Amino acid sequence: MKKITHAVIPVAGFGTRMLPLSKSVPKELLPLGNRPAIHYVVEEAIAAGIKHIVLVGHAQKSAIENYFDINAELDNQLRQKGKDALADSLNWLPEDVTVSMIRQGKPLGLGHAVLAARPIIGEHDFAVLLPDVVLDPFTTDMATDNLAFMIAAFAKDKHSQILVNEVADEDVHKYGIAQLSDKSDIEQADINASFKVAGFVEKPNLADAPSKLAVVGRYVFSNQIFDYLANTRASVGGEIQLTDAIDALISQYGVNVTTMRGDSYDAGDMRSYMQAFIYFAEQQLKDDK
Ligand code: G1P
Repeated sequence: MKKITHAVIPVAGFGTRMLPLSKSVPKELLPLGNRPAIHYVVEEAIAAGIKHIVLVGHAQKSAIENYFDINAELDNQLRQKGKDALADSLNWLPEDVTVSMIRQGKPLGLGHAVLAARPIIGEHDFAVLLPDVVLDPFTTDMATDNLAFMIAAFAKDKHSQILVNEVADEDVHKYGIAQLSDKSDIEQADINASFKVAGFVEKPNLADAPSKLAVVGRYVFSNQIFDYLANTRASVGGEIQLTDAIDALISQYGVNVTTMRGDSYDAGDMRSYMQAFIYFAEQQLKDDK
């Protein structure tokens, strides 16, 4: 079986929870420590073996595409001044990795954004990484954990994989919540483990939630998800939800959840973002010593 080499990163959100920081800077480029948040997400994808990354955005997000391109003028200027090491460090994207951008058109929801990548993804199976969520790169090994684990699990049985993590009661309403097939809940251990899932409920009240296992924002999909997305109508929040297409996929094909290893940080919410910034900065200052 072909290994997963394609990933979609939707970057079309306006980041209203991050205003005023996100008024003129895309929220994905806001710093976490000494790098823009999306830098870590792209590094995570590359470490897991991804070679083609499709950003799905709009006109105000072209700065993200530029971040992953070479700035020839800056590069020249740095090299003329003998700052070759600095210039090299800016061109860190491996040569066999491509980052391209496609526009979503109308902002009709996450499911719609993923479907917008279809012309580039074509017939490939693929991963989706939501850039609001940044996984802790300091305590996990991106080459083996989480997304890399999910890609390996997918290669074994072709079941789409969705990363989940247990959240506190007061956070359940913010996420897609998993209903497991065989159990009502699972013990979180500090390893990745894969379980069959019966369905998902998007942003339920705590009382209606089938578990406290929240969708973290990392998915590995078989290509069939595109057919389901094409037939998904708007639901929660008037948007075309990825979660609804996943539910349809479950009824035809097996879908598994993978429990998350390590910690994740929400860089799309001001309070969590500030905590994440402090954590990333502290880790990097420690390394500088
Ligand atoms: C999206 C998904 C949700 C998931 C969340 C993770 O929601 O629809 O299922 O739990 O991302 O961050 P959003 O945060 O875009 O509203």
